[in-house]
Amino acid sequence: MPIINRHGWALPESAVTPAGFSLGRRRLLEGALGGAVGGGLLSGAASADVPAQNALRFDPGRPVTPEKTVFTYNNYYEFGSQKSIWRAAQRLRLSPWSLTIDGLVKKPLTIALPDLIRRMPIEQRIYRHRCVEAWAMTVPWQGFALSALVKLAEPLGSAKFLAFTTVEQKDTMPGLVESWYPWPYREGVTMAEATNELAFLATGLYGMPLKPQNGGPIRLVLPWKYGFKSAKSLIRISFVEKQPPTFWSFIAPNEYGFWANVNPAVPHPRWSQAYERLIGTNQRVPTRIYNGYGKWVAPLYAGMPKSIWLYR
Ligand code: MTE
Repeated sequence: MPIINRHGWALPESAVTPAGFSLGRRRLLEGALGGAVGGGLLSGAASADVPAQNALRFDPGRPVTPEKTVFTYNNYYEFGSQKSIWRAAQRLRLSPWSLTIDGLVKKPLTIALPDLIRRMPIEQRIYRHRCVEAWAMTVPWQGFALSALVKLAEPLGSAKFLAFTTVEQKDTMPGLVESWYPWPYREGVTMAEATNELAFLATGLYGMPLKPQNGGPIRLVLPWKYGFKSAKSLIRISFVEKQPPTFWSFIAPNEYGFWANVNPAVPHPRWSQAYERLIGTNQRVPTRIYNGYGKWVAPLYAGMPKSIWLYR
């Protein structure tokens, strides 16, 4: 049953979570920390500032999708173009993992993922997740705001965009042999989008370390955009001056443009975006502009044409 007219902070967790899913504080942190930190993780600075209520800050207004569905219905082309890549993805090597932050920043750095996570304010976000293929889920991510990483990076005034590069592991990713794809998978956002409070870097989900098929050990989550913008398994975030090239806009710019904001009024050239199918229940529900997050993100696009999905 849809939940309407509630303020996110006021919503009881039981209203958005199915029976049996409730994240305790400890599990929340363990998930966010990706299991990469080991014993003593709760004694770190991150644990002190995790209000459990953060889970409800951005009311999804829908029940959380069962975790089995989120773990077994995926898009991850490096492992193949089927939804059933989860088994193949278990080969991905998640550790050791480091993230490089470079480009137009004061101090470029390469940091081991556990060290980065320890420095970030960890929280949970339950977000609607909408694929350009017109299916949707509701996912409880753990991680930290992308804006916190931007702050850490100290970008120069000339930095206008963030370019995301994802991992290429030739020995574990069979999809990389398909040479007509412009590997590696890359994405990009403007600085204003990156510092919007919704933009998130996930390192866990359902209180567990982020699984390989969902983009472990660290992925982007931009809930107001089609899912292809949310690049998985990140290894580099570069601050740049010009709009960066992206994987899908290179393949089909008229189908998967740079902006890719969820918009029911702009059909994909080959199908309508007016409705979406909820994976798990198969319920068909109307698509909402910006996936229902207009309150937070509509000002980012003020003055741009309503056909923003194709606008590039
Ligand atoms: N990131 C990489 N590296 N490779 C991919 O194929 N697919 C994208 C996005 N991120 C993709 C990716 C697409 S099309 C979607 S809809 C989401 O991941 C799917 O995320 P999920 O499998 O966790 O639902």
